[in-house]
Amino acid sequence: MENIIIDTDERIRYITINRPEQLNALNVETIAELSEAFQLSDEDQDIRAIILTGSGEKAFIAGADIKEFADFTIGQGKELSARGHETLFNLVANLQTPVIAAINGYALGGGLELAMSCHIRIASDRAKLGLPEVSLGVIPGYGGTQRLAELVGKGRAMEIILTAGMISAEEAHQMGLVNHVTFPSGLMSRAEEIARQICKNSPRAIGLAIKAVNAGLMNKSRGYQKEIEAFGEAFGTEDFKEGTSAFLEKRKAAFTGN
Ligand code: CAA
Repeated sequence: MENIIIDTDERIRYITINRPEQLNALNVETIAELSEAFQLSDEDQDIRAIILTGSGEKAFIAGADIKEFADFTIGQGKELSARGHETLFNLVANLQTPVIAAINGYALGGGLELAMSCHIRIASDRAKLGLPEVSLGVIPGYGGTQRLAELVGKGRAMEIILTAGMISAEEAHQMGLVNHVTFPSGLMSRAEEIARQICKNSPRAIGLAIKAVNAGLMNKSRGYQKEIEAFGEAFGTEDFKEGTSAFLEKRKAAFTGN
């Protein structure tokens, strides 16, 4: 991998975008590497949570790489967006392993869109967030028009997208766009605290819960049906037997993810 760094500590996988001189902008290669890293992490039974962050002091990700698409045609623009949705943004949103975005600086355009694809977001109080695409004559193309409205409501999403302005981490927190705001030095430890809490729980049940939540976002009535199916499916897992036995035997559960 040329553009990302992958580390593992116990059951937590760390994926760090490492193009700090370009403010971690997402070029096609970085998207491909991230896609592979997320898929491999999700297939690895030992990994129970993933933390995504950006290298350097300044940026989480300052967007899609503008230098790459500045001379694109209509067809190429459509293809860039479609490929991004499929290979990375929808992939992350639908992983069975929870992903926590640790937003250490600018999260703009495709950067905020990737953070919004993650299951949980935590931001440093220095972070700035926004979807500045209309200032470039384009629109958010990696799911931003949909996921921002889901997270903060249509009115606020419209304001953020149409003004192309940046909001502070604190403002993002107040509108539910990020779950927590920390001092820069406390960002990773807060993300790890949440990841470790997740690691205690049943990976199978976590995967099923993610599926049910996502199904409802696509289609409300389908979401309730998916919940019923996923709830039933959980009863067939070893994790369910282990979780309920551990409770009844007054001991800690040791989940295997089966
Ligand atoms: N794409 C490509 N390169 C980028 C970039 C991006 N999105 N963001 C920053 N860079 C590069 C700059 O070109 C510069 O590179 P050079 O030194 O080679 O010139 C380097 O990173 C440092 O950036 P700045 O000198 O601009 O740093 P700054 O501190 O003055 O400003 C900033 C920081 C406000 C984040 C500014 O860099 C900026 O506005 N970046 C663009 C943000 C943006 O518009 N993002 C949306 C992209 S479009 C998109 O994401 C489409 C989509 O939805 C699919």
